[in-house]
Amino acid sequence: MDEKILVLDFGGQYNQLIARRVREQQVYAEIKPYNKITTEQIKAAGYKGIIFTGGPNSVYDETSPHFDPAVLELGIPVLGICYGDQLMAWMAGGEVSSADSGSEYGKTMLYRRECPLFRDIPHTSVCWMSHTDFVSRVPSGFRVIAHTDKCPCAAMCDENRKLYGVQFHPEVTHTAYGKQMLHNFLYDICGCRGLWRMDGFAERSIAKYRKELAGKKVLCALSGGVDSAVAAVLLHKAIGDDLTCVFVDHGLLRKNEGDWVKSIFRGQFGMNLIRANVQERFLKKLAGVTEPEQKRKIIGTEFIRVFEEEARKLGKVEVLVQGTIYPDVIESGAGDASTIKSHHNVGGLPDVMEFEEIVEPLRDLFKDEVRKVGLELGIPDELVFRQPFPGPGLAVRIIGEITHDKLETLREADWIFREELEKNPVRNIASQYFAVLTDTRSVGVMGDMRTYGHTVALRCVTTDDFMTVDWTRIPFGVLEKASSRITGEVPGINRVVYDITSKPPATVEWE
Ligand code: XMP
Repeated sequence: MDEKILVLDFGGQYNQLIARRVREQQVYAEIKPYNKITTEQIKAAGYKGIIFTGGPNSVYDETSPHFDPAVLELGIPVLGICYGDQLMAWMAGGEVSSADSGSEYGKTMLYRRECPLFRDIPHTSVCWMSHTDFVSRVPSGFRVIAHTDKCPCAAMCDENRKLYGVQFHPEVTHTAYGKQMLHNFLYDICGCRGLWRMDGFAERSIAKYRKELAGKKVLCALSGGVDSAVAAVLLHKAIGDDLTCVFVDHGLLRKNEGDWVKSIFRGQFGMNLIRANVQERFLKKLAGVTEPEQKRKIIGTEFIRVFEEEARKLGKVEVLVQGTIYPDVIESGAGDASTIKSHHNVGGLPDVMEFEEIVEPLRDLFKDEVRKVGLELGIPDELVFRQPFPGPGLAVRIIGEITHDKLETLREADWIFREELEKNPVRNIASQYFAVLTDTRSVGVMGDMRTYGHTVALRCVTTDDFMTVDWTRIPFGVLEKASSRITGEVPGINRVVYDITSKPPATVEWE
């Protein structure tokens, strides 16, 4: 990469967003946790600029993340954001104070002065603030370049050393001129030229892997999700029949999905696809299991076993292709998050299997970039823009024990809900929508008969990143139609409810 920016991660919540915003300006950005890179490594890597991210701490806490002050003397421009701004002030000999009455949250008026960071930005504009601490004395060589009604130093700079700090968040859209500020930093201050382009990524990768993998046997696990699909099609275009894809059909997919995956990869792309029909095997392993984490673990382990068995049948395979994408790679600088759910996808495979080489063609890309590559490769929109689907599939959408009948019931209810929702424009703001089969039974009446049937819950969420989500305000008409069709067409269901919980406190999936 000829031109790249380092996003030095101090554990803030917007770190991936910062990197994406930089890439949107055609400059490649990579994120490194503050404790996984040294000043020497930064110097050697030839970054054009560094962005210190926000973080949840106060610089004076002993446990808060700090960095070697020599990084400010490398001659590489630095932009500190929020905690990154305070850290820069502290590292350079300034002072940071905490004043509860001075804390700001949300949209705030910003009054700026002249400096290269604020070129082409009005003197008064809206910015997004979220802080308690602030820089109370700028370090020597720095000057204040913006303030708000409560915060005397909302931005500072040392133009000679090209060091800039902002208390607010230019990466969030609520900061009206945040994009322009990042542009000014990248182009005017760091001297970037905007060399990062997604066009041609597919072509370049195909040429690269055609050369590197010539004559090797390559294996790829397909889940039907967008990442593994894009990785597989890309490799197929490079090495054709030397690539074999294994699709573990565990029977926990949505209606018609197994056949759909087969028709795209074998039918449309003519790929070597092995579909392992192991539905019964998974059902047996899951019989009697009700605890969510146990379900997830059984499915994860069994998935790997099936994959290994299929791989063994192929004889010697040298290379494994994985659909790892950039957010999977980034380790957070914020320390260990506690395990809410053990998410599983094919990412766990190399730990248990031996390959000479692992190839991850999408390792540097964000999801929206992966989608662009998918379209460039001619993958149908339906797959490229497919909503996320959990690795353990419908098993985490059936509360309690999983049986063949419950799977069939859920598949039908889910199909109807999705069909009804997709007829309505609300689908454009719905990020993920599905049905859940609860373990609640309740009394109903049909004809003149008492029923004692199951309850289906409908879930529809709107989100940018699935870390936090809001429930979607879908029109009552859609809910009404879905409810009457589900109770009318799916035997055993006599009640339908809509989940109106955001995340947090709930999660997207019920298990
Ligand atoms: P939660 O339920 O954790 O879900 O709020 C957030 C997003 O992740 C998806 N999800 C998974 N994806 N393997 C995956 O690849 C999993 O085990 C898994 N569990 C949840 C979920 O559908 C939502 O989009």
